[in-house]
Amino acid sequence: MRPSGRSVVCGIIGDPIEHSMSPSMQNAAFEATDLDWVYVAFRVAKGSAESCTHAMRALGIRGLNVTVPHKIDILPFLDSVDERALRIGAVNTVVNDNGMLHGYNTDAEGFVRALDAHGVEASHKPVVLMGAGGAARAVAYSLADRGAQLVILNRTPERAAALAMEVAEAMGAMVSHGTLDEDSLSEWLPTASLLVNTTSAGMSPNIDQSPCPEHLLHPGLTVCDIVYNPRRTLLLRHATARGATTIEGVDMLVWQGAIAFELWTGLRAPVDIMRATVEEELNRVGG
Ligand code: ATR
Repeated sequence: MRPSGRSVVCGIIGDPIEHSMSPSMQNAAFEATDLDWVYVAFRVAKGSAESCTHAMRALGIRGLNVTVPHKIDILPFLDSVDERALRIGAVNTVVNDNGMLHGYNTDAEGFVRALDAHGVEASHKPVVLMGAGGAARAVAYSLADRGAQLVILNRTPERAAALAMEVAEAMGAMVSHGTLDEDSLSEWLPTASLLVNTTSAGMSPNIDQSPCPEHLLHPGLTVCDIVYNPRRTLLLRHATARGATTIEGVDMLVWQGAIAFELWTGLRAPVDIMRATVEEELNRVGG
């Protein structure tokens, strides 16, 4: 549908932003649901999160996705923040209800929905999480929320220890931690049911990297990579070769977008169309 004088506007703020898949994915979703809505990418420099909240109210922008470097900075300027986003300390979706701005974190819920869509049961099972950065936080909280026995391994072990302690305290869960190396992986992986990569190892242009040696992967594992460019990372290709089940980063990208779509529109998201659009876009850029 061509934009009109009545078009409702949504968008994404971040920097860099030009490679975001969200405009294609969300505009395809609006079109598929016959909504006169448009979604645009705004390149917004660090330090301008507060201005964006004023702009949202002044321009009547219905929804924003929020990405690096604003996910944490925007929190104090919202009228309410969902409990889960508050716990994670980061917001990636804002809904504007007549000038009242509500913040959510759909990364965490998107991750859980991707697991559900693949029938992965995380509760009371050992889960190894590789990485301790921003992406790891949302994943760690959602896994602890599901009752997983979490082990956080990171190249810089101090960051793994800090995240583990924080999640353990906030969720009343037992969380182990260590260095992301072959020794720790060989200690934890044999009994693990789920391995999640939140590091940037394997992400384009470093497509020859994998955060885990191939020989440690086994058929009892589900391996989930949040990297979506390329779609089949070296880690996921190794996992398939070793008989493990795989969940692609595209799944999580699509589910976090689907939940944002539902928060803004109140409609069920056309998930298959959103996924097809992202896949098409990734094929176009060579993912
Ligand atoms: P994000 O918000 O995307 O998680 P980040 O906060 O910069 O980004 O975190 C990147 C994560 O990838 C970190 O856990 C980082 O490990 P360090 O804490 O040791 O820096 C991890 N990482 C990046 N490149 C890596 C590599 N080549 N091997 C292993 N871990 C890597």
